[in-house]
Amino acid sequence: MPKIGVLDSGVGGLTTVSAIMKQIEDVDVVYYADNGAGIYGNLSDAEIQATAYKGLKKLFASGAVMAVLACNTATVTSVEALRKRFRREIVGTEPAVRLAAGKSVTLVTAATARTLRYKKLAQAACTETVVLPELAAVIEKGKEHFDEALDMVISALENKSFDSVVLGCTHYVFLKERLKEAFPRAYIVDGNEGVAKRVERLLRNESGGEAAIGGDIKMIFSGENRKKTYSELLEDLRNSR
Ligand code: DGL
Repeated sequence: MPKIGVLDSGVGGLTTVSAIMKQIEDVDVVYYADNGAGIYGNLSDAEIQATAYKGLKKLFASGAVMAVLACNTATVTSVEALRKRFRREIVGTEPAVRLAAGKSVTLVTAATARTLRYKKLAQAACTETVVLPELAAVIEKGKEHFDEALDMVISALENKSFDSVVLGCTHYVFLKERLKEAFPRAYIVDGNEGVAKRVERLLRNESGGEAAIGGDIKMIFSGENRKKTYSELLEDLRNSR
């Protein structure tokens, strides 16, 4: 039965995996955490593309039938080039600006903000971009740092008026419940459900209409092996939904 590969610079893509597992309970996942490359948001476009290429190569070599770039930064900087290089199904994750209601702010990494692809999306949706260059690195440290990360978002949004907050980086989705409490009148949006639905459609085609059997996740780290921390974070996400 097919299994899917999921890539992110670190913990962020686990929020996408959780959404995919909610959508397709018995999916098999190989997760590539490119935590040896450093936070993608602070790399150049060429560096992001080169390191994501290596990760995808590993995922396809491990037998994944398709890959998910569970990373907005890698998607907006590199997805088109990566699709051309692999000629395989690669599902991207983009800031879900279209799901916002009313006046919105979109939180993104520095690398995402400077791409033409993102700028077009933001302009079409009339969203205000808020760049948080250090936020993903703080979230990557683990859940003991999520309150510190929340404070960073709260101070970045101080004096702004908005109805929706778009989480334009999968790392930020770990703060979703905290943000709902901090901004009870705002709609907090992320794109994971859309990605999960797209994966389900593609996977069902791939497996001739049947869902994959499994429900298993294997993790590969390009840097420090943090399987215990990552597994706990995924467990927390799955229990909170
Ligand atoms: N999780 C990633 C994203 O969705 C990137 C975080 C980073 O490495 O900067 O943008």
